[in-house]
Amino acid sequence: MPYTEDLKQLIKRVEATRSARVERKKRGEEYPMLSLKEREERLTKYHPDFVKGARKEIRIGPSKGYAISPEIVDLLEAKSRINPDRVDLSRIDHETDILILGGGGAGTSAALRAQENGVKVILATKLRHGDANTMMAEGGIQAASKGTKDSPYYHYLDVMGGGHFKNSPELARTLVMDAPKVLAWLESLGCMFTKSEDGRLQSMHGGGTCRKRMHYAADITGAEIMRTLRDEARNRAEDITVLEFVPAVELILNEYGHCAGAILYNLETEEYLLVKAKAVIMATGGSGRLHIQDFMTTNHYGATGDGLVLGYRAGLKLNFLHTVQYHPTGAVFPEQAEGLLITEKFRGAGANVLNLDGEQFVNEREPRDVESASLIRECAEVGKGVTTRTGKVGVWLDSPMIESLKGAGTVEKEFPGKFILFKRYGIDISKEPMLVYPTLHYQNGGLEFTADCETAIPGLYVAGEVGGGVHGENRLMGNSLLDITVFGRIAGENAAQYAVNKAKAGTLTLDHVRRYHRELEASGIKTDRISPMLLPDYSNPDVRSRQLTARYQGTIR
Ligand code: FUM
Repeated sequence: MPYTEDLKQLIKRVEATRSARVERKKRGEEYPMLSLKEREERLTKYHPDFVKGARKEIRIGPSKGYAISPEIVDLLEAKSRINPDRVDLSRIDHETDILILGGGGAGTSAALRAQENGVKVILATKLRHGDANTMMAEGGIQAASKGTKDSPYYHYLDVMGGGHFKNSPELARTLVMDAPKVLAWLESLGCMFTKSEDGRLQSMHGGGTCRKRMHYAADITGAEIMRTLRDEARNRAEDITVLEFVPAVELILNEYGHCAGAILYNLETEEYLLVKAKAVIMATGGSGRLHIQDFMTTNHYGATGDGLVLGYRAGLKLNFLHTVQYHPTGAVFPEQAEGLLITEKFRGAGANVLNLDGEQFVNEREPRDVESASLIRECAEVGKGVTTRTGKVGVWLDSPMIESLKGAGTVEKEFPGKFILFKRYGIDISKEPMLVYPTLHYQNGGLEFTADCETAIPGLYVAGEVGGGVHGENRLMGNSLLDITVFGRIAGENAAQYAVNKAKAGTLTLDHVRRYHRELEASGIKTDRISPMLLPDYSNPDVRSRQLTARYQGTIR
């Protein structure tokens, strides 16, 4: 649907301030960055993590007492989908060296490296291979390229600064040190990044970066990376078997407490399948479809935090889940596109974020959490949000400004994904700005793991969004495509080594599930909830009513 007449009238206020803003930008004059103290204040006052009721203590399990989003606590304080007393663990459906749970970028990178290390792999995924947040990532992948004024040293400082210096230093170090190698690996597999005429990778800034190190494939970087990885995995079908529509519902351990497989659930036939493996890689992604605090989300349909549940029940601790990432710019209009990611690359390319009166109110390159908090403040407290006819609130992202800065045709060329999408709705984003508001984007934390992708359970490896620690309390743009490829590769290599050299066969057991059920009961938690959730239930009236709730109408609860 094109902009309504009232919104078109409001866009005139954006147009009225554009030429002066463009001139300022050309002179290199930027809206002032907040000081560290101001950032802290903004976060504690306006970021959803600090809203009353944003955190609740988990009452059972290895991280008992840790306060995180209630939506995740509910998943953890729930019963298994299976009754361990009714599972015949001798009836194995598939046996393999490595079982990978998750068919996104982390799982697929792991599959490739495991296969190259001489083992057989089964990759089991909830939906189709590649239905994952990787596919939906747009703006880029960070890496300090050779021959620039950048280095992993600066990248490391940015990663740590973005994460409020709470990140695991070892994980952050591995991320940045492996980045140039991983970028070269992706290119060697055929990934087509946007390049300048001399053949060098294009690069730009992202929020919180001190150097231009965001490399990209137009505004469909994740899709291009996923395409490359998936094609490669499919070309190695002799060693990599892909099972689709079979989410994992429980891990299987053995008598030594080592991970030895998983129970999968066939979404089509509703059968349970037992897969026995020498090692398991958890790469199930994030949890945006939990719609934490009723926020709209950028995430794919299957992002329901399943891996957190499985890992936790088996005994892994959680970290950094007390913070949740809201991407500053999710689509508010038209409603068909609600929540969809409007890449940070628009801001990196020069687009201003503007209030009702076409005024800047925040530097566009603040770290994500600060940027989101600033948008929320502008709508909720300053009262300068733009309201649509159905009562949604947002601010403008002035994409046409990019044309004024970089020449006519730049928006279509650099942002084909969003240009085509909005065109379908009768909106030309090279001429009209987009209405945006923070949208639930990323699970900053997750299961505890080491830089070798090992966990407290031998034989269980973790990679990608399901793991916590790399990004501390806030991830910067472009570090998740990097995370999945860096740690996916490491998980694949190390799980393969483990399978060949260390895995110890033993009797299979689901005792950890029995123990978890007993703990639930002993702690007095009475619930019919079952987890993992697998798919969000949009038929539930509570969920439907979110469309009408106040969260993204600029109200602070
Ligand atoms: O804004 C973006 O394109 C998002 C990228 C990311 O989350 O890394």
